[in-house]
Amino acid sequence: MQKNYGVKFLSFGSALPEQVVKNTDLEKLFDTSDEWIYTRTGIKQRNIISSDESGLTLSLKASKEALSKTKLDPKDIDLIIVATSTPDKLYPSMGCMLQGKLGAVNACAFDISAACSGFIFGIVSAAQFIYSGEYKNILVVGVDVHSRFIDWSERSVAVLFGDGAGAVLMSSCLARDDQILGYSIHSEADKNLDLILENSNISYSNFKKQIEPDFVRMNGKAIYQFAVRVVPEVVAKLLDKTGLKQSQIDYLVLHQANQRIIDYVANKLSFNNSQIISNIEKVGNTSAASIPLAIVSGLSEKKIKTPCKMMLVGFGAGLTWGAIAVDYY
Ligand code: ACO
Repeated sequence: MQKNYGVKFLSFGSALPEQVVKNTDLEKLFDTSDEWIYTRTGIKQRNIISSDESGLTLSLKASKEALSKTKLDPKDIDLIIVATSTPDKLYPSMGCMLQGKLGAVNACAFDISAACSGFIFGIVSAAQFIYSGEYKNILVVGVDVHSRFIDWSERSVAVLFGDGAGAVLMSSCLARDDQILGYSIHSEADKNLDLILENSNISYSNFKKQIEPDFVRMNGKAIYQFAVRVVPEVVAKLLDKTGLKQSQIDYLVLHQANQRIIDYVANKLSFNNSQIISNIEKVGNTSAASIPLAIVSGLSEKKIKTPCKMMLVGFGAGLTWGAIAVDYY
């Protein structure tokens, strides 16, 4: 496409709930063990919201942190995109509620739903508004609070997820300085029932009946196979599209679904340990928040050194997946 402008990543922010739930805490809820969870997933602990926290409070905290690293005022934000599949309310959108809390009075706001690929889809969507010249400053937030949609008596899914939010501020710059070197986003519907969260099933005829809550349901093996198929594919596709060589990519930041998936992909693509950014041990799978949370912890722990080229890769329910090659400096 003809680009009138480029994207500059100004800053990242992140937020986690205060409450830490360790694997040993889950041993008290159902028949599991720290050893089983850690060897199958790489997770040791996750953060779970308390009654005074929500997706909105986490989004606000992450956004304020990102803003505090820039000279921007909330009034300078032209667009807010919130990627989430666990919004606090069906409406108003998380984006509009966040706009109100931030005082981003000049922004337009909306949500997108692409599950664990949401942050990638959000950045790609925001980039189009910048490339066209429509907007200058855009806030993209990835937030998920899966703890509200988990059956806490069923061990297979309950051990995987944590709550969290991550934010990035993107601004327009000269087209030749574009920090997005390329992107590739995808979806396929034929396997979408392998990972599903139903909505409330109220209908005309049954509305007075007790409505059972809906929980995340997953075919773990199918999702594993999906991930290890599409992630190497999309990385290869993006390298081809951008003309980048794999040796030019400094860091691989994958959606933090499962350390086994991360390890498989790293091995298959021959990335070494220091190039793989992983924080799943401490935060679990935070869905749309997982990539920005991994970037923020990678930067603060100096595992990501700038300037660098990063390959960000998301995958999740839909099924959806996508990658962005970023020149970060
Ligand atoms: N603790 C102890 N035992 C458990 C637990 C648990 N938390 N959960 C399941 N088990 C038992 C099962 O009941 C089963 O017992 P059985 O052999 O007596 O029947 C046994 O462990 C093996 O169960 P599987 O479901 O076959 O376990 P598997 O080895 O496939 O591991 C896992 C499950 C970790 C989810 C795996 O399928 C996986 O890595 N899937 C990838 C999907 C994923 O990571 N999803 C994350 C969310 S989706 C996303 O972000 C895109």
